[in-house]
Amino acid sequence: MPLYKTINSNASTQILVWKITESFDELFDAVVLNENNLIRLNGMKSELHQRAFLSVRKLLQEAGYSDLDLYYDEFGKPHLKDDKHISITHSHNFSAIIISDEIVGIDIELQREKIIRIADKFINEKELSRLRSIGAQDYIKKLTVKWGAKEAIFKIRNEKGISFKDHIKVNAFEIIDAQAIAELHFGGLVKEFKIYFEEIEGFTLVYAFEKN
Ligand SMILES: CC(C)(COP(=O)(O)OP(=O)(O)OC[C@H]1O[C@@H](n2cnc3c(N)ncnc32)[C@H](O)[C@@H]1OP(=O)(O)O)[C@@H](O)C(=O)NCCC(=O)NCCS
Repeated sequence: MPLYKTINSNASTQILVWKITESFDELFDAVVLNENNLIRLNGMKSELHQRAFLSVRKLLQEAGYSDLDLYYDEFGKPHLKDDKHISITHSHNFSAIIISDEIVGIDIELQREKIIRIADKFINEKELSRLRSIGAQDYIKKLTVKWGAKEAIFKIRNEKGISFKDHIKVNAFEIIDAQAIAELHFGGLVKEFKIYFEEIEGFTLVYAFEKN
């Protein structure tokens, strides 16, 4: 399908979402790839992953860029050659990018029961017992937001040693508010982040802005 959704979060920030319904060939024929990324594409084991990777190039084109404007640093973090910040995510049949003048990170996660079993890996006990007191449906949604927020913040900071459980805290929020505040306590610094989230066909899209 063409572009699934565009969100203009603020004057300098665009979020673009793709729902991947096209075949590999359809996507491949519609994008350009630099040499490194062509090698990466060919090395991917799953076709779903390949299509997601290609769909991100479609999103770049929608935003007026191409794969040739993108490069990855040694950690795998993507950058644009101009001054804009970019972050990339893909999960199953969705992919999304965020492009902004601000420092940003993005994540998309499928909402699933399994997250309950692994919650204690990324949320501390006190926070978890507070969350457990709410209804089951909201519980999975809130856990998914927290996970996505932590991934998005990790993508922003990209620092070795960050623990989702010990170093990143997402303050209490309601799903209906579609936003939250999070803090990273790491390396002797405290950084605050504004989190926004929304539901897309059983997935949770989360994006984070680093506050100055
Ligand atoms: C790198 C990481 C953030 C990717 O997230 P993910 O949810 O697995 O996958 P997503 O599809 O959302 O994101 C993948 C994209 O993130 C970007 N990315 C990869 N490494 C990155 C990094 N170090 N910094 C920022 N962005 C990165 C890439 O653009 C990548 O897609 P692409 O290579 O196709 O362009 C994640 O695997 C990771 O390492 N997380 C932190 C580790 C951790 O602490 N985990 C759990 C603790 S309980």
